[in-house]
Amino acid sequence: MFYEPKNHDHGLAKNPFNSLVIPRPIGWISSVSEAGVFNLAPYSFFNAVCYRPPTVMFAGGAGSSSDRNKDSVRNILATGEFVCNLATWDTRSQMNESSASVASDVDEIALTGLTPVESRLVRAPRIAEAPVHLECRLIKTTDIPGWGEGDEYKVVFGEVVGIHIDDAMITDEGLLDIAKIMPIGRLGYNDYTRVDADSMFTMNRPD
Ligand SMILES: Cc1cc2nc3c(=O)[nH]c(=O)nc-3n(C[C@H](O)[C@H](O)[C@H](O)COP(=O)(O)O)c2cc1C
Repeated sequence: MFYEPKNHDHGLAKNPFNSLVIPRPIGWISSVSEAGVFNLAPYSFFNAVCYRPPTVMFAGGAGSSSDRNKDSVRNILATGEFVCNLATWDTRSQMNESSASVASDVDEIALTGLTPVESRLVRAPRIAEAPVHLECRLIKTTDIPGWGEGDEYKVVFGEVVGIHIDDAMITDEGLLDIAKIMPIGRLGYNDYTRVDADSMFTMNRPD
């Protein structure tokens, strides 16, 4: 099959795009509002984009408030800071719960029963239950123009200025124990995947 997205003519039960670029990492973004309210939400239009400086991005769609920003994006625009927490198999339910649409004055870390921990370099809190935290400072945002259907996105780029890794997730050889961390990824729809010892394989690169 072939379709042009702008024509909405895929003819399938659901828009397949979300399931075509997969699996997607989940940036579990914690931030703090100007008023000091903690916020937490998952974003799977998320990735690392380069090494030096280590940089991540995520794209926030239109929110329901008057500025049309989701709370995470509004907080980051106001404070210039955020944290990416690694979403794992152990925290999958809380990750999902933290995607609920709640008012911006609701502390979503408390709401999901998770534990906020102070960051070293930014005011945004980290999530204690996550084994990896990337403390980030806003580099810039870029607007993706929509089709006039309320579907515009704001892409947030952040420099990773501090990295926390749970020592228990580092092997004796000095590598990350990914099979132990068990990160989860998004497959579109309401489907996810889990990385574990059975789903990993190694390939050496050609010379
Ligand atoms: C796994 C997952 C991935 C998501 N990815 C995105 C995304 O990339 N962009 C987006 O705008 N919303 C995404 N959402 C929805 C947001 O998490 C949701 O709108 C949330 O309420 C936003 O919270 P905030 O307003 O506190 O930032 C995702 C939801 C889930 C469960």
